This record gives sequence, C-alpha cells and structure tokens, in this order.
Amino acid sequence: MRVLVTGGAGYIGSHTIVELLRQGHDVCAVDNFDNSSPVVLDRIQELTNRTLTFHQTDIRDTAAMTDIVAGFAPDAVIHFAGLKAVGESEAEPLRYYDVNNGGTVSLLTAMDAAGCKRVVFSSSATVYGEPVYLPFDENHPCQPSNVYGRTKYFAEEILRNWQSATDGACAVLLRYFNPVGAHPSGRIGEDPRDVPNNLMPFVAQVAVGRRAALSVFGNDYGTHDGTGVRDYIHVVDLALAHIAALDFAARNEGTEAFNIGTGQGYSVLDMVSAFSRASGRDIPYKIESRRPGDIATSLADPSRANAQLGWRATHDLDDMCASTWNWQSTNPNGYGDG
Ligand code: NAD
Ligand code: UD1
Repeated sequence: MRVLVTGGAGYIGSHTIVELLRQGHDVCAVDNFDNSSPVVLDRIQELTNRTLTFHQTDIRDTAAMTDIVAGFAPDAVIHFAGLKAVGESEAEPLRYYDVNNGGTVSLLTAMDAAGCKRVVFSSSATVYGEPVYLPFDENHPCQPSNVYGRTKYFAEEILRNWQSATDGACAVLLRYFNPVGAHPSGRIGEDPRDVPNNLMPFVAQVAVGRRAALSVFGNDYGTHDGTGVRDYIHVVDLALAHIAALDFAARNEGTEAFNIGTGQGYSVLDMVSAFSRASGRDIPYKIESRRPGDIATSLADPSRANAQLGWRATHDLDDMCASTWNWQSTNPNGYGDG
C-alpha cells in the first residue's frame, strides 16, 4: 500500500513508519518539526534499510499538501500531525484549534483534490472526559474537559462529516489510551522538548539522572494505592494497530471509532516500581497535590478493536519499561545526541 503519514517524525508516527516499511508498504511522510527532530528520519531508514519520501511542510498549507497528495497518490493517509499538550491547549486555544482542526480540514481538502478516500486518525481516550462508567467503550458519551480533548472530538466530527459526504470513503478513529515505550532497538523513542507532561518520560528522565525526583500528583484517589490508574499501551502495539486499521479501511466504508488500549490498568506507583525493576535504578518521588483535570482511573474496553481490526496488544508492562529504559539510557538527551 502507498501510505501518506502526517506527523511522521513524531513519537507515534516514527514507530508506525518503521512497521509500515518493514511490512513492505511505501511511505511518504510530512512534518514541520514543530515537536520533532529530522534525526529520526535517518534512524527510521537505518532500522528498516528502506527509504521514505519526506516533505518538511505544515499541514495547514493546503496548496503544498494538495501537491504532495497528488504527487504521491496514496491509497490511504494516517493523520498524526497535531499539538498534544493539555496545559498549553488551555493557554493557546486558537493555535490548538488551528493546527488540530484547521490542519485536518486542510488535509482532507488535499485528499479530496487527489481522490484519496481512506484516513486513519490519531484520536485520544481524552475525548470521553470524566467517566460515567468504566471501562470506557466506544459508546461512552464524549464530554472532553479541556481544549486539547475538544480539538480531538471536533476532528472526529469533521472526519465523520467528510466521510458521509464522500462516496466510498472510510475514516478510522483510533482512540489511544496512554502510549509508552520505545522501539526495542533503542534507536527511536519519545523525546519531549521541555519538561515532560506525561508520567513515563518523566520517570525515565529521573532514572537517567536528568531530573531529581518524580512528583506524584495525588495519593487520595479511590484506586488500589490511591494514585491515578491508566491503561498504558506499548507504542509498537499502537503502531501495529494503525496497520490493522489500514486493512480495515481498505475493506470498509463508513466511520468507525476504536479504543486502542490493553484493558489493564496500572497506578503511578505500579509504574514507578516496574520502571525501577527494569532500570535497576531508584526512582525518588514525592507525593504532591492532585493535578487539576486528572481523573482517578482511565481504562479501555478494547474488544471492538480486537474483534473488528483483528488487533490485540501483546507487550506487557515489563516490555514497556525495558524498552523505554533502553532508549533513554542510550540516548540520555534524546535526538539531541544526534
Ligand atoms: P508528537 O508531537 O511526537 O508528534 C506529532 C508530530 O506532528 C510532530 O512531529 C510535530 O512536529 C508534527 N506537527 C505538529 N504540527 C504540525 C503541523 N502543523 N504540520 C505538520 N506537522 C506538524 O506526538 P505523538 O505522541 O506522536 O502524537 C501523535 C498524535 O497522536 C497526535 O495527534 C496526538 O494528539 C495523538 N495522541 C497522542 C497521545 C500520546 O500520549 N502521545 C495520546 C493520544 C493521542
Ligand atoms: C494526559 C492528558 C490527556 C492525554 C494523555 C496522553 C492531562 C490532564 N491529561 O493524560 O489529555 O490524552 O496525557 O497520554 O494532562 N502523573 C504524576 N506525575 C507526573 C505526571 C503524571 O503523578 O509527573 C500521574 C497523573 O496524575 C496520572 C498518571 O500519572 O495519574 C498518568 O499521567 P499522564 O501520563 O500525564 O497521562 P494522563 O493523565 O492519562
């Protein structure tokens, strides 16, 4: 298959491209390096021994995107490009709506011009908001509680409307739970630009000595040890879910949402112990107050993806921690090491 990947230099995009190239697909990637490094492209090619086409382009540049889509003539697009920091989204809502929603409209406009009718979209479990029941299934009401979550929800709606207005189109909405881990080679991984917002990269930076201690945001939740519980999903499992979604889009018309998680929850302190085991290092932490907007527990019911995509997560918590540690310890400054 010929696959156009937006946001291909990012954390999840780069892991997905590796799996696509390994399976013999042809890839054209687009990224403006807003939150990534060109070094990742060399690493992808070195890991797979394959080449990919790349354009440093902003997805909001509709004229450039139209030329790229028409020139590559993809069978399908995987749309990762976007902004993802919750706090920043509250401070700069217009930038978030512009990139995440305006960018999606621009991409679909370019796809229309080239007659490309299949898209797999990076959505998030954050579209559900505060749980009405758990685990979340895809019919759970969507009441996102922050700007970032609303951009994901609105992008889902834009894709749904585009699909129903386009003969023969298919839009697959993948609602990721908490992506963690790295490629087992340790050559690619998550490389946050500033202080990490998410738990796993923060823990990894504490283990490698870049930060002194983890702040645990609350230990008074109604969970087994009082700290927040999440459904962590290995990034390689997540990458493979995209390939299953491409197969689904090749066989179906319509819009379908899928939860991409394991169905298994771990608390912050579970993650600290597992990472300490994997790295052989102590992870100093201090208990602090709750982070505003956090929920106690987030857990996926992944049965729809298991049944309809024929996909299932196979990597366990130890794989998630060991691969993160392999990446972090061999690239203590991420791609900054070149
Ligand atoms: P990332 O920041 O590593 O990757 C996103 C990529 O998009 C980056 O390389 C960035 O440079 C690029 N980009 C941003 N704006 C762009 C623009 N205007 N034009 C072209 N490229 C642009 O993030 P990620 O973790 O790989 O996430 C990928 C997608 O998955 C995002 O849409 C994100 O919202 C979604 N998602 C991520 C998570 C997570 O925890 N990582 C969870 C749920 C959903
Ligand atoms: C966060 C985002 C969510 C996004 C998801 C992507 C918020 C409020 N939510 O969710 O929109 O889709 O990332 O993966 O930012 N924790 C600590 N100390 C830290 C960091 C986190 O204790 O330094 C705790 C959190 O309170 C939470 C758990 O670790 O209980 C996981 O946090 P995180 O990795 O940020 O993910 P989410 O909160 O699920």
